[in-house]
Amino acid sequence: MKILAIGGSPRGSKSQTHVLVEALLAEAKGKGAEVEFVDLGKAQIGFCRACEACHRGPHCALHNDDGGGILERMLEADGIVLASPVYLDQVTAQMKTLLDRTSHFVHCLRMTGKYFAAVTTSGGGGGEATTAFLKRYAVTVGAQFAGNVDARVPLGDANFAAARALGAALVAAIAEKKLWPDQVHAIDEQLQRFGHIIAFRKDHWPFEYQYWHEKGWL
Ligand SMILES: Cc1cc2nc3c(=O)[nH]c(=O)nc-3n(C[C@H](O)[C@H](O)[C@H](O)COP(=O)(O)O)c2cc1C
Repeated sequence: MKILAIGGSPRGSKSQTHVLVEALLAEAKGKGAEVEFVDLGKAQIGFCRACEACHRGPHCALHNDDGGGILERMLEADGIVLASPVYLDQVTAQMKTLLDRTSHFVHCLRMTGKYFAAVTTSGGGGGEATTAFLKRYAVTVGAQFAGNVDARVPLGDANFAAARALGAALVAAIAEKKLWPDQVHAIDEQLQRFGHIIAFRKDHWPFEYQYWHEKGWL
């Protein structure tokens, strides 16, 4: 079982979000998972240019930056932790830039069968909107959302305990193939909606149309 955590803080080793993620990953590793951490603050990731190359073929037009490799690692992982400080009630620009590069994952629900979790930290304790965005993103790409930690800095023991508990819950959800009925329903709705769009756009998005065909979804 592989768990990939993606940290969106620009503050590297000073990041309180990343410190919490380390606790989560240590717990997951103790439960037998293979874990990896990607620090977006150190990655070179260009903005999505809306060129639609990823809908027409397997590669982003910017695939020579770090974004393509991170997306590949997401495809290989069983569990993905999206971790971000709250900036203006949203994820950081680093995290949003990566997620904007995953439009193909949305169209083809490429994270189907995977499990997501979210870790957010904030100065004022207002991570609800950011967490809701990350949960919505997970379901939009076809994944089950196993839970989150939303902590206010300075971090305390309870925050680290919650991060460790989330690590254990994520491993358990992956092992049990746990399903949340409301999320299954939301993913079904997403499949219906994109089924129409992919069929309508089949000449413009041949790569994605082919993917849907191979999946037997069309
Ligand atoms: C540009 C910027 C915007 C921020 N916006 C918010 C905010 O909207 N709400 C909040 O509670 N904290 C906000 N903060 C504080 C950070 O969320 C908080 O310090 C966070 O724990 C930093 O995480 P890190 O240590 O992982 O970088 C902001 C900080 C910065 C630098």
